[in-house]
Amino acid sequence: MATVIGWQPLRRTTVLPMFSVYAEQPHQDDPFAGLQLGERPLPEVPVDWSRVQVQAASLNRHDLWTLRGVGIKPDQFPMILGCDGAGITDDGRKVVLYPIIGTPGHSGDETTDPGRTLLTEKFQGTFAEYVAVPTRNLVPLPESMSFPEAAVLGTTYLTAYRMLVTRSGLPAGSTILVQGSSGGVSTALIQLGRALGMRVWATSRSEQGRTRGLDLGAHQVFENGARLPERVDGVFESVGRSTWAHSMRAVRPGGVVVCCGATSGPDPSADLQRLFFLQISVIGSTMGTLEEFRRLISFCAATGLRPVVDRTFQLDQAREALELLENGTPGKLVLTAQ
Ligand SMILES: NC(=O)c1ccc[n+]([C@@H]2O[C@H](COP(=O)([O-])OP(=O)(O)OC[C@H]3O[C@@H](n4cnc5c(N)ncnc54)[C@H](OP(=O)(O)O)[C@@H]3O)[C@@H](O)[C@H]2O)c1
Repeated sequence: MATVIGWQPLRRTTVLPMFSVYAEQPHQDDPFAGLQLGERPLPEVPVDWSRVQVQAASLNRHDLWTLRGVGIKPDQFPMILGCDGAGITDDGRKVVLYPIIGTPGHSGDETTDPGRTLLTEKFQGTFAEYVAVPTRNLVPLPESMSFPEAAVLGTTYLTAYRMLVTRSGLPAGSTILVQGSSGGVSTALIQLGRALGMRVWATSRSEQGRTRGLDLGAHQVFENGARLPERVDGVFESVGRSTWAHSMRAVRPGGVVVCCGATSGPDPSADLQRLFFLQISVIGSTMGTLEEFRRLISFCAATGLRPVVDRTFQLDQAREALELLENGTPGKLVLTAQ
C-alpha cells in the first residue's frame, strides 16, 4: 500500500540539471528504445506558473503513447514523461496537480478549450525532481491522502468522475457496466461508481482482473462478452474495438454508452442500426474541469474514498514500472521521489 513520502527541503536553487525520466525520441514500434533516465534542465517558471518538487507521479497509458510519438509533435522531444503528480511548492505548500494546461485567457470548460494540453504534450512532465505548472493548476493536497494516492487523481480518477457524474447523467441506483477491471480508468470507475450509489458490474479478460473488480467494489463481474442478467442503464468504455460490440448489446433501450478511450483499437463498429433503433446515446468524455477536480477531491474527503495505488517505485525504477504497464500488469503504478 502507499506510504506518505516526507517533505525534503529543496536541494537545489540554481539552474542545474535534475534527474528525469524522458523520451529522447519517439519509437512507434519499440517504445522503450527512446526511454532515457538521466539529467534534464530544471524547468523554467514563467509568470503565473509555480515550481513543484515532485513527491509522487503516477503512470498512465498516455506515457506509453508519448514514447510511441502518439499525441505529441516530433519537435517536442526530448520530453519528460508523467501527466500527473503531487508535491511541494517552493513556499512549502503540499499540492496535487490539475492535469490540463489551458490556453491563457480561456474561460469556461477546460476540456473544450481547443488549445488545451496535458503535461508531456507541450510542457515537460512529472517524472522528474521538479515540474512547472500554471499556479491555477495547484490544488491543496487533502489531509486524508498521501502523495502517491493524490498522484493518481489527475488523469484516471478525474476522467472517471466526469464520465460518471457529468457526462452519463445517471442517478444513484442505476446499473452500470464497466468494461475492464485491471486498468487505471476502469479501477476508478468501479470505485467511484460504487461510492456514488450505483449498482456496478464489470468485465475483465482474466480471473485475476475479475477478482480485482470485486475487491474494488463491483457487485458482480463477468468475462468479456458475457451475456448479462439484464441490460444496464449505462456502459463505461475505455477499451474500444474488443469490447465495443458487447457494450452496444449490454445497454438498455434509451441507455447511454460513455467512452473515454480505445486501448484495443480506435475504430470500433458503431452498430448504427442498434444505435438508432434502441435510441442509445453514445457520449465522448475527456479528462475533466478544474471545478470537477475540486469536487472529486471533496467527494473523496466526504466519503472516505481513497484512490487505489497498487505498487510504488522509486523514480530511478521507472523503466521497470513502464514495462509492467506495457505488459498489462493490473493496477495503478506510482513513482515516488528518491
Ligand atoms: N479521454 C481521456 O481523457 C482519457 C483519460 C485517461 C485514459 N484515457 C484512455 O483510456 C484508455 C484506458 O486508460 P488506462 O490508463 O485505464 O489504461 P490501462 O491502465 O492500460 O487499462 C487498460 C484497460 O483495458 C482493458 N483492456 C486492455 N486491452 C484489452 C483488450 N484487448 N480487450 C479487453 N480489454 C482490454 C483492461 O482490462 P482487463 O485487463 O481487466 O480486461 C484494462 O482495464 C487508454 O486508451 C487511455 O489512453 C483517456
